[in-house]
Order: sequence, then C-alpha cells, then structure tokens
Amino acid sequence: MKGYDFRGAALELGVLVGEDGGADASERIRISLSMLNRHGLVAGATGTGKTKTLQVMAEQLAAQGVPVFLADIKGDLSGLASPGVASERVTSRAAEVGQTWRPVACPVEFLSLGGLGDGVPIRATMTAFGPTLLAKVLELNETQESSLGLIFYFADKNGMPLLDLKDLIAVIRYLTATPEALSGIGGLSTATAGVILRALTNFEAQGAEAFFGEPEFDACDLLRLTGDGRGVISVLELPAVQDRPRLFSTFLMWLLTDLFHVLPEVGDVDKPKLVFFFDEAHLLFDGASKAFLQSIAQTARLIRSKGVGVFFVTQTPQDVPADVLAQLGARVQHALRAFTPQDAKALKATVSTFPTSSYDLERVLTGLGTGEAVVTVLSETGAPTPVAWTRMRAPETLMAPSRPDVVQGVIAASPLQRKYGTAVDRQSAYEILSAKLATQQPADAPEAPGGPAQKGESEPRQTVLENVLESKEFRSLARSAASTLGREITRSIFGTARRRRR
Ligand SMILES: Nc1ncnc2c1ncn2[C@@H]1O[C@H](COP(=O)(O)OP(=O)(O)OP(=O)(O)O)[C@@H](O)[C@H]1O
Ligand SMILES: [Mg+2]
Repeated sequence: MKGYDFRGAALELGVLVGEDGGADASERIRISLSMLNRHGLVAGATGTGKTKTLQVMAEQLAAQGVPVFLADIKGDLSGLASPGVASERVTSRAAEVGQTWRPVACPVEFLSLGGLGDGVPIRATMTAFGPTLLAKVLELNETQESSLGLIFYFADKNGMPLLDLKDLIAVIRYLTATPEALSGIGGLSTATAGVILRALTNFEAQGAEAFFGEPEFDACDLLRLTGDGRGVISVLELPAVQDRPRLFSTFLMWLLTDLFHVLPEVGDVDKPKLVFFFDEAHLLFDGASKAFLQSIAQTARLIRSKGVGVFFVTQTPQDVPADVLAQLGARVQHALRAFTPQDAKALKATVSTFPTSSYDLERVLTGLGTGEAVVTVLSETGAPTPVAWTRMRAPETLMAPSRPDVVQGVIAASPLQRKYGTAVDRQSAYEILSAKLATQQPADAPEAPGGPAQKGESEPRQTVLENVLESKEFRSLARSAASTLGREITRSIFGTARRRRR
C-alpha cells in the first residue's frame, strides 16, 4: 500500500496507518486540488472527527488561495479564526503524522441567517429562493408545491415583487379573498391556497421573516481572497437556528444553486474557485421529493465545471442518494458504530460503497480511532486511489470555539457588514396590495392573469395567458419547477425576473 502522490498542489489529510495501528509518516494521504471539483463525502458516527477533518481541510485550502464555505452547526468551527493552542495531545499527533505544527489563524468571515446568531446577516428574496425550496421548508406535497409555483408566477406577471415573507402572504390572502383572481390561475384551489397560507403564517410565527428580503446575499461574496492571496473562509454560524434544520439545509441548497447561476463555466481547473462543505447533509435529503433529489444531483453534476467542489458531511453514506453518492470522488470515512442490528446493516452497506481493498473494512471501520479515517480519493487521472487507513493531521487553528470578542471583532471589521448589515424593505407586493386595499375598490385590485373578470359573462374569458396557464406544457413545467432545470426553463419561457449579477 502506498500514500497518494500528486504532481500538482494537494491537501495533506494525514498519513497511512499499518495493520499494527502504527502510523507511517512517509506515506502521505492527500487530495489533489485539481480533483476537488469532483466533490467528496466526509462521514462518520458522532464524535469521530468529521468537524476536525473539515477544519484541517479548510485551513489548508485557505492557505493555498482557495475560498471555502462551511456551515457551523454546533459553533465549534469558529475556532478557524483563532490560532490553535499547543498541547501534549496535539504535539504527539503532529509528530506521528510528520506535521510541522504551528498555530495559525485563518481569514474568516462569519455569516448568520437573517442575523440570528453571530454573523453578518444573509438573506434571500422570496423570488430568488423560489417555490421549490420554499415548498421543501414548509413540507408541502407536490400538488401544493406546484400551486406555490403558480402563485409566484401570478405575482410576477402582475408586477408584485415577492421580496419577503409578508409579500407572499399578502398575495395569497389577496387571491383567497378575490375568487375571480384565484379562478384565473388554473390549477390553484382555495383549499390548497389556504393550506399554503397556514403553513406560511406558522413559519412567520417562528420568526422566519428575518431570512427573506433585501439586501439579498450575493453568492459571489463567498469567493473572496485576502490581499496576500489567501482564501477567505466563510463560516455560516447556525447554532441559533439548529432547531430548524429544514430551514438551514434548504438555505445551503439555495446558496449552492445561486452559485451555480452566477458563476461562469471554467471547466477543469488546477485548483477550485470554492470548496463548499454541506454539513448535516442528511437533512437535505430526508423526505425530499424525487424531483428535489434530482435537482440536487444535477446541481452537483453541473457545478463541477464552474470550479466548485462540494463536500457533503453526514453520518453514513446511506444518507446520500445513490446518484449523488456516485458523483463524490473523495471519501473520508471516520469510524462507524456497530451496536445494533441496524448499525451492522448500515456498516455492511457502507463497506459495499468502497472500492475493493486488501482491508477487512468492516473490522477497520469499527476499530478506527478518533481522528482516523478510511480514505479514497481520485488520482490525477480520475481513477479512485486504493483505500487507505489514515491518521488525520491536527488542526492548526483553535480546536474550540473562538472567544466571543474575537468573533465580534471579525464581524465588526467585515466589509460585508456594511453591505448586508441593515435590512431594507422596499416597495413590493405587500405594500402594493395594502395601498390598493386602503384606497380602492376590489374591482381595481390587480388583474388576475387572464384579465379582469367580465361581469355577466357565464364563461370566463379565455386569453392567451390563460391558454398558456391551462396548457399541458405549462402544467408539466410547473410540476418540473421542482427541478432546477425546470425552473430555468420556466424562467426563460415566461421571463420570470431573476437578478443577474454577472
Ligand atoms: N484530526 C484530529 N486531530 C486531533 N484531535 C482530533 C482530530 N479529530 C478529532 N479529534 C478529537 O476528537 C474530538 C471529536 O472530533 P469532532 O468534533 O471533529 O467529531 P465529529 O465527528 O464532528 O462529532 P459530531 O458528530 O459530534 O459533530 C475533538 O474534539 C478532538 O479532541
Ligand atoms: Mg462535528
């Protein structure tokens, strides 16, 4: 068995461990930077070293000029902003793996969802977030999801920007109170509109309005370098919303989709433009519709040529659907437990996802020590390297949260704080509809797609737009709005506004 040698730049993960459990510092286990856009998986039971592996990778990426995005669910990754503290354990691990350990602090940007938590607030407008992701957060079924798509379409066509949550609520309230407008949108029933409205008002009651609105976060801000060419690590601090996993995992998906839209094609690159760590990835896949899963698989496939590497972080590979798993070139598998019959089954399934090797993987995977992993990556020619039992390097930044004053100092000094620090509430659907309600008769309210209802007409007037809305093609598009591509087609055909930033 050999370590992994690459001619180009690489990340050092650790060194090879022999069958006797001893580390061989001459056999380095690395990941080529040019292969990072072929994505990866970091998996393992709780407490086995996944977060520290992320820390080790992020530190080296930043040092080599690659920006990093990661979600900090427990708050322990804020340590990236502070130099590590030497200890007996760190020194002995460094010696074992042949690491010249020196404390460093990385250039870090702290972000938070809507300002909940320690970080520059990031928000998405309702329109950019879109009906598919919103349906996922609200746990809507597929019919409700396509109805939500029709509501977005209606608002767009009637010049009612959906920027924040109250805009969307106002539009649905208007629709449910205006039967002729509602009936103009073929396929949206009062009952479904009511269900969506209830889901949204519950969501609002949980404080969700903070996450939507302007200024909208520009995903290009994740691609920053410092003046001396180091990659900035954007850490999305999530402890304050960790009880709302559907919300934050969907936001991560929005960020990734947004990146996909704004980044130009670059093909294969020597080093990635960004490495995106998708932590607690199972939350994204749990209960997701088939179309949603397809859109994740497709985003992962297509974002590669934009130079973005995505690493999913989760407990076992079974959390990841097969067509996503098949795209993950690098695998860092920390220890698995085998306490229950289900564990034993999951262990066997995990083993079957690895290339064949000389190891008894069931035994190795359950016997791995903390900060050890079974690793396979892609060689520079794209072939999987042999599975290697690896002792991971020790992080050189702080292995605990940064002190609150350090975090607050970083946030206060951030150029992003000036850009995103204060929410802006400009005129949008809510204001437009409130103004109409206050001053006008219902007859003057915005037109339903299909034009004003004709008094005395027994048959609703068929317009070109209505024909389109009723058409098989539109309905199937509205359904396939559940896929990113479907949304794109819907946008390009119906001209749904989307802010282009590049
Ligand atoms: N590479 C490493 N070098 C030194 N110590 C490590 C390393 N990896 C793990 N450890 C030790 O193991 C502990 C647990 O690691 P870590 O927090 O990364 O686990 P985890 O898999 O992220 O757990 P959880 O699922 O609970 O988030 C660390 O606090 C640290 O003491
Ligand atoms: Mg962790």
